[in-house]
Amino acid sequence: MTKQERQNDPIAVYDSGVGGLSVLRALLEQLPYENFLYFGDQANVPYGDRSLHELRDLAESVTQFFIAQKVKIIVIACNTASAAALKYLREIYPDQVFVGMEPAVKPAAEQTHTHKVGVLATPSTLHGELYASVVERFAAGVEIFQSTCPGLVAQIEKGNLDGEETLQILHDALDPMLTEGVDSIVLACTHFPFVIPQIEEIVGDRATVIDPAPAIARQTARVLKQYELLNPQTLAGSRALYTSGNGADLQGMAERLIGLKSTAHELDWHNGQLISRNSVW
Ligand code: DGL
Repeated sequence: MTKQERQNDPIAVYDSGVGGLSVLRALLEQLPYENFLYFGDQANVPYGDRSLHELRDLAESVTQFFIAQKVKIIVIACNTASAAALKYLREIYPDQVFVGMEPAVKPAAEQTHTHKVGVLATPSTLHGELYASVVERFAAGVEIFQSTCPGLVAQIEKGNLDGEETLQILHDALDPMLTEGVDSIVLACTHFPFVIPQIEEIVGDRATVIDPAPAIARQTARVLKQYELLNPQTLAGSRALYTSGNGADLQGMAERLIGLKSTAHELDWHNGQLISRNSVW
């Protein structure tokens, strides 16, 4: 296939659920003429407590599904899956172009005045090699305070952005780090940008909140340019949503969270492979 033919192929975006929509939102702003295919693995959300092995298997099968859809690049819009599987996927699919999430410790370390930074991420992300290496490379002389915000991903999946449970989880995570004096808070889970207003309400002017999505969108544009894969069309591209959960739910959340109106197709996991739900019957 020629480069020109591939330029029109979609950009795939993958997360355990609705979190990757925060990255899709930034991608749509940065690359409006591209075609997009979003997959949320809502049959398996949350990913945050799953084993490395499980996360790699899931990400590998999702990659196979994307490759069968002829996508030109895969954006792993999930810190947990990126931490567990990105290196592995690049090894087993050397011809496939990937972009992944990396906890934004570097910008936080650059901007902190108190030399104290907060990181909100899932247990899997915080235990992974990627996070350890980012901290080692960029956070010398900076004290890091972490929280896994237990239950927050599930609340956001339910659309409960400002209910009592959500606010309690945020207070439990943020109050102790604010007391310690953090002035910069890294959102290292793609679900969390959807509660930035609630986080900012708690944090006030004591700390700034870092959402890495715009940087990931710029990185995706750079990589596409580097591979001469940018779509030359100047009309808004297509957007397709896929979920292993409930299509109507994802559709509703995409519209509510990022104003995207698009039909969601349902997929089923079948012997470790993603297949169209209708084709089961
Ligand atoms: N949105 C994901 C992340 O960035 C995964 C959250 C989860 O499923 O636990 O880590």
